Amino acid sequence: MNLFVIGATGRTGREIVQQALVRGHHVTAFVRSPESIALRHERLTVLRGNAMDENELLRAMQNHDAVVSTLGPRKVFKPSSMLHDSAVATTRAMNRSGVKRLVVLSAAAHFPGIPNRIASFIMRSHMHDSLAMEAIVQSSGLDWTIARPPRLTEEDYTTYRSRENAAPKMGFSMSRKAVAAFMLDAIEQKKHFRQIVGIAK
Ligand SMILES: NC(=O)c1ccc[n+]([C@@H]2O[C@H](COP(=O)([O-])OP(=O)(O)OC[C@H]3O[C@@H](n4cnc5c(N)ncnc54)[C@H](OP(=O)(O)O)[C@@H]3O)[C@@H](O)[C@H]2O)c1
Repeated sequence: MNLFVIGATGRTGREIVQQALVRGHHVTAFVRSPESIALRHERLTVLRGNAMDENELLRAMQNHDAVVSTLGPRKVFKPSSMLHDSAVATTRAMNRSGVKRLVVLSAAAHFPGIPNRIASFIMRSHMHDSLAMEAIVQSSGLDWTIARPPRLTEEDYTTYRSRENAAPKMGFSMSRKAVAAFMLDAIEQKKHFRQIVGIAK
């Protein structure tokens, strides 16, 4: 498949790129700083672009089969509408280009529960932006999947549990490698269309 990755320089995004290449896909990494990607591969194209610019996205995403977004704010406590603004630009570009499949990374803190309420309060501006992003994705008319993991780690496993519309029980953390595996599986296996999916170790 031809995969278009937004957030490819991030910790989860890098896992997406690496695993997608191992799985035999062609990957376009759409990034604001191409120099951050040291990886070279014959099936990897790195494009400089603004993830908030619908027209730049539109030009770059032609002829792709799916878009994966693992964007996240570099400063989590600073108010930002980056996730929302990028979701608006991305979903508009996808609808114009005819790319239908979108898998985005969100957060388990949006599920009900007291620990999540606490996390949501501490990171309220980021959580507000993340929820606004989800709303844009859900109303996009695309074949979307929203992945909601708990705390992310650098551990080395790629296995995961998943549950539509709820967090897996007692799932308090998850490796970024496993998040990437879930997002790629959802695309390859055509699963979880128009679903919010709780994922965890
Ligand atoms: N950390 C956790 O425990 C946790 C738990 C649950 C969910 N999540 C969610 O997971 C997501 C990603 O996490 P992560 O740890 O993989 O993120 P990360 O390592 O911080 O990477 C963030 C990515 O977003 C890009 N980005 C940030 N601001 C941008 C902007 N204005 N324009 C274009 N690109 C921009 C970064 O690009 P540059 O390299 O150019 O900065 C980078 O590629 C977040 O949305 C977060 O809510 C995290």
